[in-house]
Amino acid sequence: MKPTIAPYPLGRFRRARQSEAIRSLVRENTLTVDDLIWPVFVRDGEGVEEPVPSMPGVVRRSVDLIAKAAAEAQAMGIPAICLFPYTDPSLKTQDCAEAWNPDNLSNRAIRAIKQAAPEIAVMTDVALDPYNINGHDGYVVDGKIVNDETVEALVKMTLAQAEAGADIIGPSDMMDGRIGAMRQALEAAGHHDVMILSYAAKYASAFYGPFRDAVGASGALTGDKKTYQMDPANSNEALRLIERDLTEGADMVMIKPGMPYLDICRRVKDTFGAPTYAYQVSGEYTMIQAAAQNGWIDGEKVMLESLLAFKRAGCDGILTYFAPQAATLLQG
Ligand code: PBG
Repeated sequence: MKPTIAPYPLGRFRRARQSEAIRSLVRENTLTVDDLIWPVFVRDGEGVEEPVPSMPGVVRRSVDLIAKAAAEAQAMGIPAICLFPYTDPSLKTQDCAEAWNPDNLSNRAIRAIKQAAPEIAVMTDVALDPYNINGHDGYVVDGKIVNDETVEALVKMTLAQAEAGADIIGPSDMMDGRIGAMRQALEAAGHHDVMILSYAAKYASAFYGPFRDAVGASGALTGDKKTYQMDPANSNEALRLIERDLTEGADMVMIKPGMPYLDICRRVKDTFGAPTYAYQVSGEYTMIQAAAQNGWIDGEKVMLESLLAFKRAGCDGILTYFAPQAATLLQG
């Protein structure tokens, strides 16, 4: 249906913009606390909170303080928290066995959060990079990232996380066939309600730089991730990947990074109508923070505008390091 527009001066678009009351009546999209997933970094120790230099305002917390932060997030109404471990370099190995250790940092944090904040949904990351001596998301054999052996490891990692109490598993590795393998293993183990939010369209992006510092993977990483993460030039491929992951049993899908890929968000939502999320990644966060710290932009306004853009592009929610600040502002 094509809406009818009266010619000027019978039609004046500015009538609908004249006051906040009228603007709020005609507003097409809204950002609320319900839209936020908060990614956090976990480290070992107790009572430790350590700044991440390349992500101003972001810290790595020990398990006890992660639990406390989760309780605060729950009180603010943030529906989900997503865990990323900063793993001690001495635990990084060729076989990445720490990834499915039931007592690794991430699994201890899941249990602590479940105790301290039983209402908040706990999301995890599934990929080998925090545990891999060469910083890759998959096993490296003769200089190549091997797919099927990696999937077997990711399944073990998934089951350990589900066992620890994770609500939402977030495979960020981009191997082929992992969603189906993980879903079947979860079903077989009786974890029927554990959800999978697939990082289905994850691009080989330079915007992940600060995150790799935060999880201590920058130094370890050899080469790039272009043989498994997507080419930023592609759009149809994203739709095919999303469709593939949905048919393998993903409950929700993600596009990553966020703001440079809003066109993908829109296509995905229009094509599949599935629960669709975007990850406003570390580099996006850091650009906004850096400009705001220099007084070059209004940090709070840019933050809220950037998050609203995801809603307008069709996303149901956003993973964002701004979650607590945005929640505070949104609740006035
Ligand atoms: C790794 C992973 C990455 C991010 C989430 N999971 C980085 C990468 O693929 O190298 C990036 C998040 C961010 O930049 O905020 N599996």
